[in-house]
Amino acid sequence: MVSSAELYERARRLIPGGVNSPVRAYDPYPFFTKKASGSRIHDVDGKVYIDYVMGYGALLLGHSPEIIIQTLRKAVEDGVLYCTPTEEEVILAEKICKLYPSIEMVRLANTGLEATMHAIRLARGYTGRKKILKFEGCYHGAHDSLLVKAGSGALTFGAPSSLGVLEDLAKHTLISRYNDIELTEKIVRENAEDLAAIIVEPIPVNVGLIKPKKGFLEALRRLADEVGAVLIFDEVVTGFRLAPGGAQEYFNVKADITTLGKALGGGLPISAFGGKREIMENLSPVGKVYQAGTFSGNPLSTKTALTVVEYIEKNRQIYGEMRRMVERLCRAAREFIEDLKIDATVNNLESMFQVFFTSREILSYDDVLTSDLGRFKKFFHNLLKQGVFIPPSQFETCFFSTAHTDEDLEKTIEAFGRAFAECRG
Ligand SMILES: Cc1ncc(COP(=O)(O)O)c(C=O)c1O
Repeated sequence: MVSSAELYERARRLIPGGVNSPVRAYDPYPFFTKKASGSRIHDVDGKVYIDYVMGYGALLLGHSPEIIIQTLRKAVEDGVLYCTPTEEEVILAEKICKLYPSIEMVRLANTGLEATMHAIRLARGYTGRKKILKFEGCYHGAHDSLLVKAGSGALTFGAPSSLGVLEDLAKHTLISRYNDIELTEKIVRENAEDLAAIIVEPIPVNVGLIKPKKGFLEALRRLADEVGAVLIFDEVVTGFRLAPGGAQEYFNVKADITTLGKALGGGLPISAFGGKREIMENLSPVGKVYQAGTFSGNPLSTKTALTVVEYIEKNRQIYGEMRRMVERLCRAAREFIEDLKIDATVNNLESMFQVFFTSREILSYDDVLTSDLGRFKKFFHNLLKQGVFIPPSQFETCFFSTAHTDEDLEKTIEAFGRAFAECRG
């Protein structure tokens, strides 16, 4: 039987860092997965973990639920790629537009990265403007316009956050602080003439989990309207997870363009971006903004997404059930923190939660940066040892799925108690 240690040794010689996406790496080496089912993930060493990474939010219905297995079996027999339109694409578009009233037209792509990249190009093409505004700590996929952080000295002017991203492009990405209405107003108004889009994760989940202050998302809506910029809600994580209609249903704020991904595909690669007809009709072949993809709308992903969306439509009670479990776990976590007198805090919303090792209330990216990363690492490794798998980084979010059971929950609470005890002092 091959071990994770052995596979890692082989992998790191051929695959940078031994992983195909950097967040999967941790010291001394990640476990290598053999299979997964429901709420559990099994490694090649014979260990089983309760999974709270859940495909970084993609696996809303857990690993390979029966309905997806059935869909895929049939789909494989009927052909895995046509590159022609299908009835399922039409039905999926109808369902997405129904659940997201701000989406009048929609196009499918394959990853969250593609969806936000195309949304930005579309916003620039539609407005004829260059600049975009993003928020510190929000992640929208690994592409050039958005791999940008606050430049030196102040927020506002973007600097590349990766080698290889041109400063000439990064300078068109402006940066503000999430939950800071005043700063955002200032930046938007100063750039009113040339601002193509404001892009935001309605709930930033790529810095842990931050909730919007009352009125923040509404302020973005108002500001975009004031200067004629396109408001893009990146709902790659929140879409279908926070509610069937995502953050827009949850907070009752409408975007001009919405990006969807992750949970939509039930584990298969699919994403979507959609919005106002007037904007979407600028896409080729109707309009002059080019966008394309060989695998876009492929039958495996499209049929699986349709299965996921139909399931969600018929089973809205799943949201309440997942919320109940998260609330129970977070209540227990807060009790451990208080009893053990640890500098830690817990944020949760619907099926998502994160523990931060800081005494600060987490309202902004700056608050997250006060977290003790060493303690988080200890917490992660202790949980892993006990068979509970959370994302290895403080700057990620934990996810429940409909496959998690009360037994998983009780085991996790016990494991949290022991892990917090180790992180004391
Ligand atoms: C909010 C958000 N947008 C976009 C992306 C990019 O999605 P993908 O990894 O599918 O390219 C992610 C990925 O984590 C995300 O969290």
